[in-house]
Amino acid sequence: MKTVLLSLILLFYSIGLLSQENNKEIIKVSTHDLTMVFTTSVNEKVLFQYFGDHLSDASAFPGKRFKEQPDNGTGYAPTLYPAYGGRYFLNPALKLTHADGVLTTDLVFVNQETKNLDANRIETIIRMKDTLYPVFVDVHFMAYQKENVITQFVTIKHQEKKALEVENLASAYLPLHAESYYLTQFHGTWAAEMQMVEEKLTHGIKRIESKKGVRTNQSESTSFLLSLNGPADEDHGEVYGGSLAWSGNFSLSFEVDECGVLHTLTGMNTFASTYHLLPNETLRTPEMVWTFSSSGKGQISRNLHDWSQKYALAHGDRLRLVLLNSWEGAYFSFGEKTITDMIDAAADFGVEMFVLDDGWFGNKYPRNNADAGLGDWQVNREKLPRGIDYLAKYAVDKGLKFGIWIEPEMVNPKSELAEKHPEWIVKSGKREIIPMRNQWLLDLSNPAVQDFVVQTFDEVIALSPNISYIKWDANRHVDNVGSDYLSAGDQTHFWIDYVNGLYSAYERIRAKHPEVMIQLCSSGGGRLDFGALRFHDEFWPSDNTNALDRVAIQYGTNHFFPAMATSSHVSPSPNHQTGMITPLKFRFDVAMSGRLGMEIQPKDLAGEDLSFAKQAVETYKQIRPVVQLGDLYRLVSPYGENGWASLMYVSKDKKESVFFAYSLKYHGRTTFFETKLKGLDPAKKYTVKEINKHSGSRVFWGDGQTFSGEYLMKAGINLTIGNPFESAVLLITEF
Ligand code: DGJ
Repeated sequence: MKTVLLSLILLFYSIGLLSQENNKEIIKVSTHDLTMVFTTSVNEKVLFQYFGDHLSDASAFPGKRFKEQPDNGTGYAPTLYPAYGGRYFLNPALKLTHADGVLTTDLVFVNQETKNLDANRIETIIRMKDTLYPVFVDVHFMAYQKENVITQFVTIKHQEKKALEVENLASAYLPLHAESYYLTQFHGTWAAEMQMVEEKLTHGIKRIESKKGVRTNQSESTSFLLSLNGPADEDHGEVYGGSLAWSGNFSLSFEVDECGVLHTLTGMNTFASTYHLLPNETLRTPEMVWTFSSSGKGQISRNLHDWSQKYALAHGDRLRLVLLNSWEGAYFSFGEKTITDMIDAAADFGVEMFVLDDGWFGNKYPRNNADAGLGDWQVNREKLPRGIDYLAKYAVDKGLKFGIWIEPEMVNPKSELAEKHPEWIVKSGKREIIPMRNQWLLDLSNPAVQDFVVQTFDEVIALSPNISYIKWDANRHVDNVGSDYLSAGDQTHFWIDYVNGLYSAYERIRAKHPEVMIQLCSSGGGRLDFGALRFHDEFWPSDNTNALDRVAIQYGTNHFFPAMATSSHVSPSPNHQTGMITPLKFRFDVAMSGRLGMEIQPKDLAGEDLSFAKQAVETYKQIRPVVQLGDLYRLVSPYGENGWASLMYVSKDKKESVFFAYSLKYHGRTTFFETKLKGLDPAKKYTVKEINKHSGSRVFWGDGQTFSGEYLMKAGINLTIGNPFESAVLLITEF
């Protein structure tokens, strides 16, 4: 962790600030493998000292890490939470305007509290106050011991006479010092989400942000990696993983200053978001999720997967079901028979759940396309005369669970809801309400709309006692922002209040329906953040179901989010989004690396494809515990130039592993694919078996043979896959 040690230049804070005598408090936030250190004393600044590999003894810090520097106007000692004012000239974590118009804030230490919440979670709160004003800022850390994740958020309150204008309130600030910094970000657009890009940071500010309000993670992700002294490698080097748990406007800024120090600030976007905080009111930031590894980014992913399965995902200890979703198989055109036929076929396939997608509701304005009916959550009696209960019971009688689609935050202009509640629609005064996918957004900053969303969920669930799963969609972002509910002076609260209103609705729903499985859809990746995910069982990474594109999308996604939550569906060929033709085996092999599902009209499968699909579903059920609960090792990146991709999952006890490899382009007749495996026990012997073969194909020469873990990890394996969309799945079991 040498390079992370901050050779920071001490400024001109009061002489002796960092001397041994004055720095009485050493605040350590530690997990099994990680430590953060802050030093301070009462009425002094809280200094950031260290975040990296675990330190058993932090007592060496006070007075020893920083050398006093003459004032050259550029130095500074990084604090826990830099506020605008004094000598601080970088982007601050906190910027307020006090009730008397003063623009600056000067935070000093009050006290700290550390509590063991249970055997795995240690909470630390560092309390600070302004030196002149009754403004109180607390930074809350939670250290997850086993998973090596540290989360943090900030709360602010005050007792000034009038409202404070809160302009910047970051979730986290992290200063680092190294020779160079490499940022991996994940950008995207509809049908091409989580595209991974890495760049070297140079001087100045790199900012990643969203002002879209809703579905903000679809185009820019709140998750990122920072690698020190070289590009991020899977198994080597110091890498920080960060993920802001927030589904609204956000900003991540990475500033390399004139001393070569990198300052990372993460939080809600400050754009048009000034918050007027009343005396004694508390404003809380989103949570920032951190992890670190000195042995590459693979460990970052495994830490976050373990942590989210336990703390940021509903039912993270339960295996996910194989489902058939009706969307690409039926779209809006279905009647009762279409659905019961699909359920019959799903049962025949060994599928475990059927999900009825969009199009089942609306009577005055039937939802027969995306133009009408959204908001009117009553069953369309013409399409489904016996209602949802009949279909759900039909599924259950066939041995399947039943799920249904909703999009409760949105409304079509052509709907009874829009006629009844025009005041609930997000709009900018008398300006045009701009439709997107022919729909408007409901104003979740309004508690009446939050009630409506909760009530919609309750009513839809009540359509049948046999509904086990809800697919929650959200298909637009915010344009021409404004709220009829918020006062004229508080319109800038919209961005924060919308998301908090959504989270409050989620919380109420989860309290009432703890057992229901909920998919976080948002037209694909739109809310792929831990803020929303904690209320859901899984997410829909993309509307693009083309297997080739999914290899790259899911590879980006799996840097942060676990396979068990990654809905991955086999869809028709030619693919409906891209027109690309791919073999059924390739489509299954890709989908089986996440939570397998199908997005297809089953009657379109026949002959060998039909029997292969049935067998593939059964195969998935066998490998599911390893894929969904095992450790991920990425082997070959689809973002590389060679046109192959490969990854594997290893069970926690290292007794079983599932390996996937994909050929993404034509490689020439004589080329073959070779890779070294990871994560196995070198001392164990493993039998390697090719599974999910279509028409008896065999691509591994050693199929069925036994090898040592050491051999597989050092010598590796080679496979005869080289044509476009050839793929292999290997089951590796302890001998
Ligand atoms: C967007 C979703 O991502 C799709 O899966 C589907 O549910 C449609 N919306 C339905 O309108």
